[in-house]
Amino acid sequence: MRRTTLVLTAFVFLAHAASASATNPAAVPPMGWNSWNHFAGKVDDADVRAAADAMVSSGMKAAGYVYVNIDDTWEGQRDAQGFIHPNSKFPDMKALADYVHSKGLKLGIYSSPGPRTCAGYPGSYGHEQQDAQTYADWGIDYLKYDLCSFDGIMRKQAPNNLEQQNQLMIAAYRRMHDALAATGRPIVFSLCQYGRDDVWKWGASVGGNLWRTTGDINDTYQRMADIGFNQLGRAEYAGPGHWNDPDMLEVGNGGMTYDEYKTHMSLWAILAAPLLAGNDLSQMSAQTLSILTNRDVIAIDQDPLGEQGSRAFAVGMTEIWTRPLVHGALAVGLFNRDQGAHSITLDLHAIGFPPHATLRDLWAHQDVSAANGRYTAIVPPHGVVMLKVTR
Ligand code: GLA
Repeated sequence: MRRTTLVLTAFVFLAHAASASATNPAAVPPMGWNSWNHFAGKVDDADVRAAADAMVSSGMKAAGYVYVNIDDTWEGQRDAQGFIHPNSKFPDMKALADYVHSKGLKLGIYSSPGPRTCAGYPGSYGHEQQDAQTYADWGIDYLKYDLCSFDGIMRKQAPNNLEQQNQLMIAAYRRMHDALAATGRPIVFSLCQYGRDDVWKWGASVGGNLWRTTGDINDTYQRMADIGFNQLGRAEYAGPGHWNDPDMLEVGNGGMTYDEYKTHMSLWAILAAPLLAGNDLSQMSAQTLSILTNRDVIAIDQDPLGEQGSRAFAVGMTEIWTRPLVHGALAVGLFNRDQGAHSITLDLHAIGFPPHATLRDLWAHQDVSAANGRYTAIVPPHGVVMLKVTR
């Protein structure tokens, strides 16, 4: 009798675990595209359809990209019953979702817990249930929920009490998560409040699948590097289903060099960051596409172990970052943050590998060899050499 109960319990547990991993839409960091970095307030239905088309025709879908996310400025007015409608840039959201789904992709949308979004459009304040149901009815698969004007509500409701303000913020995120869950549709929940109140410590507890850890990125090496190289101390909070989000990619938007964009992509992969392209997919160069679809680097980002990497060594303006991977392998980024080239040496012993470990250069797509247990590369200004080390 006791044994039957145990076996049954084990069975129920296993069945539950299996169904959780089958249904968890963020078991690995979400990959896709978001309209904001390139289109900002101009995005419309045609742009989103073009992004979906290009995601398929360029080979990005085949490389793992799946979410097509509309950011701010799609929102129109609420009707007499309080239901939100898109503005004239998006004539039929359900038809758009059907189109995106017909390509084997998923559609994401954006809102705020406040009365207004950051661009001043209607937010979900007081309409959380209705909005969640509307998104589910349209066929939405992903929601970015951006604090924006809710900050004002927090300050008004709890003046001079930061702790209470934070509790209001946490409750607001939980409210939307519960509303999404109540629809029964799996919808990835992306928290955006710029890393306030150590969100990585509570983001998962309110159902967040990812949470922004910083203010907005922009298309400069300086900003990208400031964000990316300052993600230390948060790795322990990331894992399957819940990820730190250092913001969306700028690859292909024109403000950085080829080496700088490779640094961006490599660093985000080591950070187990969501990979949301932010460029115009319908206009991208072969070079941009080659960065975004580097399957060796994507495989690092999507490694099923889900362990976020960290800085292992720093000497002057050079840094070595590592990320543990399945089967005891290690991703290694040799980063040069300086404006001139530097030689960087990786000592295999120092990262716990034997001198004969196998090294693969993930941008050159070739195996390279260490000499006496050390591998030295000349890394260009603001550039990277990214390796996968296996025993
Ligand atoms: C905030 C977010 C950005 C973007 C804009 C839209 O600034 O951090 O990622 O969503 O709002 O208004």
